[in-house]
Amino acid sequence: MKILVVYYSYEGNTRFVAEHIAEFFHADVQELKPKIDMHSRSFMKYVWGGKMVLMREKPDLEPLKYTPSDYDVVFIGTPVWAWTFTPAINGFLAGTPLQGKRVVLFYCHGGAPRGVADKLKALLQGNTILGEKGFQEPLKWRPEEAVLAVRTWCRELKPILGIE
Ligand SMILES: Cc1cc2nc3c(=O)[nH]c(=O)nc-3n(C[C@H](O)[C@H](O)[C@H](O)COP(=O)(O)O)c2cc1C
Repeated sequence: MKILVVYYSYEGNTRFVAEHIAEFFHADVQELKPKIDMHSRSFMKYVWGGKMVLMREKPDLEPLKYTPSDYDVVFIGTPVWAWTFTPAINGFLAGTPLQGKRVVLFYCHGGAPRGVADKLKALLQGNTILGEKGFQEPLKWRPEEAVLAVRTWCRELKPILGIE
């Protein structure tokens, strides 16, 4: 079974989860990199990021190394920005055919994810969503516990994905 983990991460939390998922399933990993991304680490990141979400921006991304349609299962991971998924994911879904794929969703948040998974699912109609899970800032709150949580979730997913 070929598995691809696609993610965007601004500050590393989603990358951390993505890499542990990929390690568990021996999956390929595709990081999404907007050609132009914000750089602020101060409070301004909320202003710029929030504005990009509100404007429903779909930034152009650096070319992908992997082709999602070649895979049996695609994980999609995003930080939560303004209670939804990030513009980079918007750009990815707008530019990449994913119809009919088996998809698993994951997201990192600061404590208020709201309906991020439902919003992603609305954009992924025509795909089968096999699972979803949120992680609260694993790099801030005990990364070692987050690793265990990721592995436990991956073990739960194995029969759902049809892996022995
Ligand atoms: C622009 C911006 C908006 C955010 N909005 C939310 C939010 O609505 N709800 C929430 O729980 N966390 C929010 N956060 C916090 C991030 O979701 C959280 O820190 C996440 O772990 C970041 O993932 P990353 O390190 O992969 O970028 C926001 C962060 C940024 C930069």
